[in-house]
Amino acid sequence: MRGLRSFRGPSSPRALARVWWSSFLYALLFFSGVPTDSSAATARGWEENSNGPGPSSISSHEGPPGPARAHSSINESRFLRDDDDNCGSGSWGGSRSAEKNGHAATRCLHSSSSPPLPLPSQNPTSLSSSPPPPPNPNPRARLLLLLLRLRHGVLVPIASGTEPMEAVITVDVLRRAGADVAVASVDPGSAQVGGAWGVKLAADALLADLADAEFDLISLPGGMPGSSNLRDCKLLENMVKRHAGKGKLYAAICAAPAVALGSWGLLNGLKATCYPSFMDKLPSEVNAVESRVQIDGNCVTSRGPGTAMEYSVVLVEQLYGKEKADEVAGPMVMRPHHGVEFSMKELNSTSWNVGETPQILVPIANGTEEMEATMIIDILRRAKANVVVASLEETLEIVASRKVKMVADVLLDDALKQQYDLILLPGGLGGAQAYAKSDKLIGLIKKQAEANKLYGAICASPAIALEPHGLLKGKKATSFPGMWNKLSDQSECKNRVVVDGNLITSQGPGTSMEFSLAIVEKLFGRDRAVELAKTMVVM
Ligand SMILES: *[C@@H]1O[C@H](CO)[C@@H](O)[C@H](O)[C@H]1NC(C)=O
Ligand SMILES: *[C@@H]1O[C@H](CO)[C@@H](O)[C@H](O)[C@H]1NC(C)=O
Ligand SMILES: *[C@@H]1O[C@H](CO)[C@@H](O)[C@H](O)[C@H]1NC(C)=O
Repeated sequence: MRGLRSFRGPSSPRALARVWWSSFLYALLFFSGVPTDSSAATARGWEENSNGPGPSSISSHEGPPGPARAHSSINESRFLRDDDDNCGSGSWGGSRSAEKNGHAATRCLHSSSSPPLPLPSQNPTSLSSSPPPPPNPNPRARLLLLLLRLRHGVLVPIASGTEPMEAVITVDVLRRAGADVAVASVDPGSAQVGGAWGVKLAADALLADLADAEFDLISLPGGMPGSSNLRDCKLLENMVKRHAGKGKLYAAICAAPAVALGSWGLLNGLKATCYPSFMDKLPSEVNAVESRVQIDGNCVTSRGPGTAMEYSVVLVEQLYGKEKADEVAGPMVMRPHHGVEFSMKELNSTSWNVGETPQILVPIANGTEEMEATMIIDILRRAKANVVVASLEETLEIVASRKVKMVADVLLDDALKQQYDLILLPGGLGGAQAYAKSDKLIGLIKKQAEANKLYGAICASPAIALEPHGLLKGKKATSFPGMWNKLSDQSECKNRVVVDGNLITSQGPGTSMEFSLAIVEKLFGRDRAVELAKTMVVM
């Protein structure tokens, strides 16, 4: 299998054709007026749109794609394809620190050929015993199905109680590699899913809409009760068993290896790992190991939020090969070594002690980097801060830089009604530009800075949102490496996390966890930060 996959690497003509063709479809999806919001899509209805973007309009464009058309559709689809967009910035491509990315070093390679997998039950009752399903009414789901056939299709199911960091990191990293990732809600009624720690996500589709789709990879995020909700979804169980039975790549992280894959019998005879406190829940037929990421045959397992990025890069490597994995890992500024203590560079040290329940504002907008936002929100809530997620758009739901749909708690106007101990800006070029353009938000941060209260930013935001508004004046800071040249004082920018008095800044997705832990340390002390790092399997 693996040989086959690398043969279909992105440079082969076939893969190029797939990429071209799916770009074209993306453009079609965008310009045909299909609402990108799936609930809106359902509301408008497939039937009403009968002269809209149906399969008929796609087939009318069939035939070998001509270069003229390719030009415009590839341009227009850039907003969906982020191959060249790292921190939401095209300025730092390349894999200049591939050897330092850490994913290769910590991989625990073990490729014994896997024993025959349990065959999928041949009568997926939940699929076939019900009356024949009506034609899929959701145009977006139909186009998604088409896309999934054309590029590496990946399924990431989510459920109520899913650990959002694990879901979002996997989706983001795989989309950076060019995979078509479908985030599917296993809840039959709702695309909007309340993840763990009150982080709300909107799925791209309902799992039921994708029941017949073929994927190259199915990856299960962890979290509780998310993992047991995935386990209890009969449709998902049947899909994963059918997929694994064909020798295709399947994966799970955190509690999900034990709770879902293990209880479905899909780890029997394999080396696998899972969240430390769930190791004893792995069935006895499993060869349980404590690797951060474990590959055995077509199965990849991993341990927790702190290993999610390494896990995702290993999945990229399994699908696309090592070169692609390095290319994706480099710009994410991953930790060079795991197991080392996390640290920050601190200047003009002041006390950040603002009480047991700090009020923290995290603004999000279209184009916000979803991994960064999710890690900040999730980790600070784990530390018991009161985190308010505010949308700068007209709706609570925003479309993040890798098209993950995040749902805010409030709109910015409502968020402005209260005071915050700390304001934190996640990165992503589009998000940072939206922050910079919001007079209300910038005004609030200026008041915060004047009052010597706490604020911080990561990735594109220090350079794009803070620097031009004078909010880094007289301060040492860092930002996404491709944007260091935008900082007027670059003397400390090589540090992964910089604290200067009441300001904290950091570099990118791979430093988000250290950034969040440094904030926890400043607010609550090192002990709570170290304890959190351990429960997240950072070290
Ligand atoms: C398409 O992109 C290329 C390179 O980015 C640019 O030179 C060209 O003007 C773009 N075309 C359109 C129609 O936007
Ligand atoms: C912060 O620390 C730097 C270096 O130690 C020093 O040069 C600077 O004056 C300090 N700034 C303030 C506001 O104390
Ligand atoms: C944000 O994205 C949503 C969904 O794509 C779109 O409806 C909305 O207009 C966007 N907002 C802005 C300000 O572009």
